[in-house]
Amino acid sequence: MVCLGNICRSPLAEGILRSKAEKQNLPVEIDSAGTSNYHTGQHPDNRTIQNALQHDVDVSKLKARQFSVHDFDAFDHIFVMDSSNYNDVVALARNEKDKQKVEMILNRVYPDSNMSVPDPYFGGEQGFENVFILLDKACEVIAGSMGNTIN
Ligand code: 4NP
Repeated sequence: MVCLGNICRSPLAEGILRSKAEKQNLPVEIDSAGTSNYHTGQHPDNRTIQNALQHDVDVSKLKARQFSVHDFDAFDHIFVMDSSNYNDVVALARNEKDKQKVEMILNRVYPDSNMSVPDPYFGGEQGFENVFILLDKACEVIAGSMGNTIN
């Protein structure tokens, strides 16, 4: 799961998908990263932590890191939150196989729409709840597809 800062959207996506995967006993590794290093080493934004807790998802222990080219080797799927993340991650792809791993996460809910998960960082509480609702829908679809085929 990849966003810009790795303190709002992508750690939440990581927490939501992990919670769904655990409920289904899926043997998958889930992680998140930011395209920037602005917040490396920091826990998620407090507003993300609090919003997630209201939905029984705990992301308080996660720590931000920057996306690296090695993530193309470590992971089968790379879900990005917005089109700018998409461009930044694809720019690091070494070949077509790397590039094919990168998907706009909301395309799993709204195929081919290339919709972005809005960045809630500079907005109010409602933005965080809106992000939760969008990511919960997307992760439900992703967890379902993992259950069928582990891909
Ligand atoms: P995120 O949100 O990409 O969802 O983690 C942001 C966090 C920090 C900044 C921008 C977006 N920032 O500019 O510091």
